[in-house]
Amino acid sequence: MRRSEINSTYTVSPLNYIGGKARILDQILPFFPENIDNFVDLFCGGCNVGINTTAQTYYYNDNQAELIGLLMMFKRLNVKTLLRRLDQLVDYYEFSKTKDHDFKFYGGNPMKGVSVYNRQKFLRLRDDFNATIVRNNQHYILLYMLIIFGFNNQIRFNSEGKYNLPVGKRDFNNVLRDKLIAFIEVLKRQDPHFSRLDFRRFPKDFLTPNSLVYADPPYLITDATYNENNGWTAQDELDLLAYLDDLSERGLRFALSNVLYHKGEQNSILINWLANRHYHVHNVDMDYSNSNYQVEGKNSRTVEVLITNY
Ligand SMILES: C[S@@+](CC[C@H](N)C(=O)[O-])C[C@H]1O[C@@H](n2cnc3c(N)ncnc32)[C@H](O)[C@@H]1O
Repeated sequence: MRRSEINSTYTVSPLNYIGGKARILDQILPFFPENIDNFVDLFCGGCNVGINTTAQTYYYNDNQAELIGLLMMFKRLNVKTLLRRLDQLVDYYEFSKTKDHDFKFYGGNPMKGVSVYNRQKFLRLRDDFNATIVRNNQHYILLYMLIIFGFNNQIRFNSEGKYNLPVGKRDFNNVLRDKLIAFIEVLKRQDPHFSRLDFRRFPKDFLTPNSLVYADPPYLITDATYNENNGWTAQDELDLLAYLDDLSERGLRFALSNVLYHKGEQNSILINWLANRHYHVHNVDMDYSNSNYQVEGKNSRTVEVLITNY
């Protein structure tokens, strides 16, 4: 399967994360053990991995508090209520509805989408959201509205905690609507525990040999936007590797996603760490047909891996 396609048997997150694993689930999940009791998605982001994993108990952790608040709202609210409130907000802000009309109706086209039509409405919504103080259902519903109508369905806040992405090309179309419904259905069934901890503070004492901790951190050598605002540093990388070593020493299992090489750079910290351990490195096959791999030659290769200690 090409990396640009998502296997339709998976549940895909309605939140789009840079480094999200939706496109490589078919290469990661086969390396997960069977009969997992506790599954910890330590850097859950859009939860693409946890939502497609079978376990007895699920733990979603991420240090982005607004993300965890949003996921908790998804779990808490009745899905019909959520859809009704989203539709009411679409009407209130007078956003486009391409589920009812084509792009032309809104002066757009499939390339540009409806960004021009929605821009001012989006800025009003963004101001309203950034002015909210109480973290209640309405706050998180407004946040999800921003994700629907914002750039690439992503979440991003500036250093003052204000949502700062621009308008996107799409609206609350049927594809996104169906994704949201399917995702929430699984989330409710999983009934996960949520936490907004820095990974260093995530407890280990409740884990058993049948547990799995999956770590999908920002990548030190690729994730430019995380590394803005003092995002993911070499010290974070070292601390995570120490955290994983500690799991191993306790007889607990982990799986780590990362890249060893990317665009002529290498993650020396990770490579040196691997050289002194007996962990297993599984290559995650990338499809280069959509990239400039052939043009730039092998220095531009990206080597993406899943590292396991079992
Ligand atoms: C690559 S994304 C995870 C994507 C996810 N696996 C998916 O498929 O949607 C990395 C996540 O790590 C979170 N993160 C960054 N630093 C963290 C830290 N110190 N502790 C916990 N989470 C952190 C970010 O907020 C982000 O959501």
